[in-house]
Amino acid sequence: MTDETNAYDAADTGHVWDDNLRELTNPPPRWWTIAFHASWIFVVIYGILYPMWPTFSGYTKGVIGWTSIGEYKESVAQLEEIRGPFEAKIAQLEPAAILADRELANYTDASVKVLFGDRCAPCHGAGGQGNPGYPVLADDVWLYGGTADKIVESIVNGRQGMMPPHASRFSDQQLDDLATHVAGLADGKEHEAGKVLYTGAGACFACHGMDGKGNQALGAPNLTDRVWRFDGSLEGIRHTIAYGVNAPGVPETRNAVMPAFADQLDETEIKKLAVYVHRLGGGQ
Ligand code: HEC
Ligand code: HEC
Repeated sequence: MTDETNAYDAADTGHVWDDNLRELTNPPPRWWTIAFHASWIFVVIYGILYPMWPTFSGYTKGVIGWTSIGEYKESVAQLEEIRGPFEAKIAQLEPAAILADRELANYTDASVKVLFGDRCAPCHGAGGQGNPGYPVLADDVWLYGGTADKIVESIVNGRQGMMPPHASRFSDQQLDDLATHVAGLADGKEHEAGKVLYTGAGACFACHGMDGKGNQALGAPNLTDRVWRFDGSLEGIRHTIAYGVNAPGVPETRNAVMPAFADQLDETEIKKLAVYVHRLGGGQ
């Protein structure tokens, strides 16, 4: 190549290998030279404008005074400017009024999602979809009530439903009858002996209602809706009846404790969470 494109008149360094392999002194291509100079000029200008060179006591600050913390503060200030009016409104309004204002409710959802993820999701699931032993918040079925006020109450004071154990009061056969009766309620299938116990000696009706539809004042769930707080198999239902819920001194009892958040969250946070939870599920 060298031989053909550069006749013997091309300038060289005088070095020759293998008889005819010469080292030429052609300048590099123009684009390369331009790029080379542009890059060091850029570095020098950048170093003048922005913080860059280390010195004995720190670093050069740059003539335009840019700092990354300054840029961060500026974007936070911009964000606060957008948030401010929303936050002020939320502070003044009741949860029900926030829910009625679509824009405010959307803002609330967005701003409290992370808090829900930190404080509530470990038990209730990231989208409020529940976990074994922890109630679903993203449906229309409520133990204590799905109005904004009831949800606030649940968050502020916590909840701890109580159902007495029945294992020592009834025979195995009676527990089976009760469980069969309860399991059939959703399909309108009553079990005669079970029904007698449910509405009589078992006193189940006192909390769950004669019709089995529950009582939100007690957190006693509706037993006719196919939604099960705990294991909803025949065996699981029998277990709940036998050992109760949060029954003191009964190791097999179902545990259901919702901690109180009154001391851990401020009023606005609780309000926002109630709005968020209501919008996940909502209703009564
Ligand atoms: C340690 C687990 C745990 C954490 C954390 C937790 N919960 Fe609960 N939550 C429960 C349990 C258990 C219940 C059901 C209590 C019962 O059955 O009596 C419950 C019940 C509720 C209820 C009532 C549901 C109904 O059907 O009436 C609401 C509302 C609720 N939680 C919201 C929240 C919110 C909001 C947070 C976050 C601030 C939260 N929970 C954090 C365990 C938890
Ligand atoms: C003192 C009130 C009370 C009495 C009496 C009572 N329960 Fe309950 N029961 C509850 C409460 C409260 C819960 C839910 C606890 C929770 O979720 O925190 C519950 C839960 C249940 C569950 C679990 C429901 C689910 O969704 O997993 C079943 C089943 C049940 N009860 C059946 C009965 C039967 C049958 C009787 C009568 C032998 C009875 N209960 C008596 C209060 C009561």
